[in-house]
Amino acid sequence: MKKFIPLLNILFTIVLIGACLNARAYSAEEKTLYERIGGKPVLTIVVSETVDEVIANPKTKRSFADTKISTLKASITNQFCVITGGDCIYEGESMKKSHADLKISTAEFELLVQALRDALNRHVNTREKNELLKLLAPMKHDVVTN
Ligand code: HEM
Repeated sequence: MKKFIPLLNILFTIVLIGACLNARAYSAEEKTLYERIGGKPVLTIVVSETVDEVIANPKTKRSFADTKISTLKASITNQFCVITGGDCIYEGESMKKSHADLKISTAEFELLVQALRDALNRHVNTREKNELLKLLAPMKHDVVTN
């Protein structure tokens, strides 16, 4: 029996390591997209860089002329927080209502998405980037009216 004890010890250690790895995998799986992105600090930077790019680009800046940029950034950040599963409150208008009079074209929409993709590439992983872009894609229908 004595000679089996080291063997049992090794077996026990292997099972324990396996259980730990499994538990880690599960907890990673349960994290919300918001958590995996890095929460509000990362969303704030991503949104800020995206908006800075579209208000600087001559091809997209047109519709932002009468908009208070700091308020817009805060509102979009809250919206992203909510749709990714964060504990925020979005108090802005619906996508249809807030873009109704802006006559946004498909080209403008795609340039904004490209600016967002570039910002996400700088701050989040590919999987999280794709998940967020996928959540936003259906909004095109309400944003593009031209
Ligand atoms: C999926 C794409 C988009 C999302 C998720 C989005 C999201 C938002 C949000 C959350 C707001 C604030 C609404 C509020 O606070 O009531 C907003 C406003 C606005 N968006 Fe977008 N937007 C998108 C595409 C675009 C595009 C392509 C443009 C133009 C190139 C644009 C231009 C604006 C402007 C100018 C406002 C402010 C309107 C105002 O001052 O009342 N958006 N957007």
